[in-house]
Amino acid sequence: MAEYREVKTYDIPARLKGKGTGSHDRPKPHIDEATYKSNYQASITKIDEFWGKLGRETIDWDVPFKTVRHGGFEKGDVAWFPEGQLNASYNCVDRWAFRHPDKTAIIWEADEPGQGKEISYKELLAEVCQVANALTNMGVRKGDAVIVYLPMIPEAAVALLACARIGAVHSVVFAGFSADSLRDRAVDCDARVVITTDEGKRGGRTIATKSIVDAALKECPKVEHCLVVKRTGSDVPMQEGRDKWWHDAAAAERAYCSPVPVQSEDPLFILYTSGSTGKPKGVVHSTAGYLLGTALTVKHIFDVHENDRFACMADVGWITGHSYIVYGPLMNGVTTLIFESTPVYPTASRYWEVVAQHKLTQFYTAPTSIRLLRRLGEEHVKGHDLTSLRVIGTVGEPINPEAWDWYNENVGHGECAVVDTYWQTETGAHMISPFPGATKTKPGSATVPFWGVEPVLLDPQSGKLIEGNEVEGVLAIKQPWPSMARTIKGDHQRFLDVYLKPYPGYYFTGDGAARDKDGYIWIKGRVDDVCNVSGHRIGTAEIESALIQHPGVSESAVVGIADEVTGQAICAYVALKPSFSYDSHEALVKELVLQVRRNIGPFAAPKKILVVKDLPKTRSGKIMRRILRKVASNEADQLGDVSSLADPSVVDGIIEVWNKDQ
Ligand code: WTA
Repeated sequence: MAEYREVKTYDIPARLKGKGTGSHDRPKPHIDEATYKSNYQASITKIDEFWGKLGRETIDWDVPFKTVRHGGFEKGDVAWFPEGQLNASYNCVDRWAFRHPDKTAIIWEADEPGQGKEISYKELLAEVCQVANALTNMGVRKGDAVIVYLPMIPEAAVALLACARIGAVHSVVFAGFSADSLRDRAVDCDARVVITTDEGKRGGRTIATKSIVDAALKECPKVEHCLVVKRTGSDVPMQEGRDKWWHDAAAAERAYCSPVPVQSEDPLFILYTSGSTGKPKGVVHSTAGYLLGTALTVKHIFDVHENDRFACMADVGWITGHSYIVYGPLMNGVTTLIFESTPVYPTASRYWEVVAQHKLTQFYTAPTSIRLLRRLGEEHVKGHDLTSLRVIGTVGEPINPEAWDWYNENVGHGECAVVDTYWQTETGAHMISPFPGATKTKPGSATVPFWGVEPVLLDPQSGKLIEGNEVEGVLAIKQPWPSMARTIKGDHQRFLDVYLKPYPGYYFTGDGAARDKDGYIWIKGRVDDVCNVSGHRIGTAEIESALIQHPGVSESAVVGIADEVTGQAICAYVALKPSFSYDSHEALVKELVLQVRRNIGPFAAPKKILVVKDLPKTRSGKIMRRILRKVASNEADQLGDVSSLADPSVVDGIIEVWNKDQ
């Protein structure tokens, strides 16, 4: 634990005190140290009173709730504001379109600089309504699932809000997933409609989105309609009766559609995420609790005020995009940015040009981008006016102090609050993070819990509570919070088994963490078989099952290895069938990588593939990944006890292959 005891503590920065460079009107933060403390206490002691008040203030209700919360971790029947009725799209769009129709809701920063546009709340409302009506015409009703497979275009936000408007449940599939992954998700959630685009654009490249959808839909008998946004205008095949152009379908509709009220606990969306075993889980989020969590964290963790221009650089295909591009900012009626490109296109100054051009006030990205830009050099940041920024944040993986310092100095100029936000797909919104005007920060620590979140450290084996400071354990949460996931689509038992049963009475995060002498939380990373590559969660089991589909592979085992830029990278050990012969090792490795790209998607491609004779197994046949991890971390001299292996000599063969590969 030495590495985090010595780091510097940073006080509340200048721009959060109304000072700092540049002539910007800098509002007083919503929360100071004293209000954080008193609110936090109230949030865990006077739970109903605290959340009842915020629920009433933050959400516009069609039917008010009577009960604040019900249920618990024991049965997994958590419910918040159960009698309430509301509509997410009304709360994100209409109320602002009526109050400030011409305010920009969405800034779209297109792949090619200068080709984007701004959409006002009034325009957003009209388009959401037209698409909602078009979906209704396609037979979509309350509770039906709609798959959204879109790149980072404004229509992605419109699609989500249009589904929400009619009570349909969206399930966004990140547009980097392959046809196979898309098919599996569409089938799992019984989708009848898919929303996509002709092609995508990213970093100057064109992605054949529609053709991926066409391939997936060959095996999705329940999908009746496909709504296609025209992004590039390229000639793509349209299947008669099934495929419709978005702009034709929308233009034919009235630009108003009454929002359909849903119950608080009705699902707003399903989002698939990787676990340590089996196929991806369709995490189900509620409507009211989720909206409350995202609205409040945007307001307080990013200290968003009315005239702010907020930018989250994630993809809408992940939870970060759902919560911090679409729902959270729009719940606050502010301006949000949709970024189609990459941090290095056309140059490594892109992010900073965007900040300066749009005078962004908050900027949120992943540590992996910061590490990449740090490596490319300060000169790309210099010379851009970044004085509009007040809060800069990261999410997705632990941020190393060097990257934190670089971000703070070069982007924040030492005057912005740096918020390292810890949370998960399943938590819906931030769980542990500094509050800009209230929390002193330490590079590398996610610091303090959000309201209503009671983090605890448990002994991984006994499950016993580890009290006091300067301790480490697995991270769990003691009480239900409004934005937590409610279940896994079609498999509530799995929800219980994965999150609520491992440590009875607690929600188990799957992460390890430490608490330092000041009570600050330091996230240590996953304690299960989930890898984190560039902030993307990838289950090792998924990659293994992709590799095994190659005709030559008899077995595979995947582990994460440290990577300077991506945090972790995938390393796959593969054993071949004795009968399989091949000419070129290089060609085989390429084929195996392709197999993963085809099966899951390019972002899951292994960085290293090691073809070994055998995998290390216990006598009962279980692969000992611990050994593979050690070898892949160049720690073959610290393998520990290998006596439980069925054949300890296998290890020598693996070390030999590893050494040869270096
Ligand atoms: C990791 C992304 C350290 C963690 C919102 C978690 C983090 C997983 C942080 C969830 C952080 C996320 N510091 N680790 N600030 N934020 N993680 O579901 O391992 O894609 O369990 O949600 O990312 O990833 P997911």
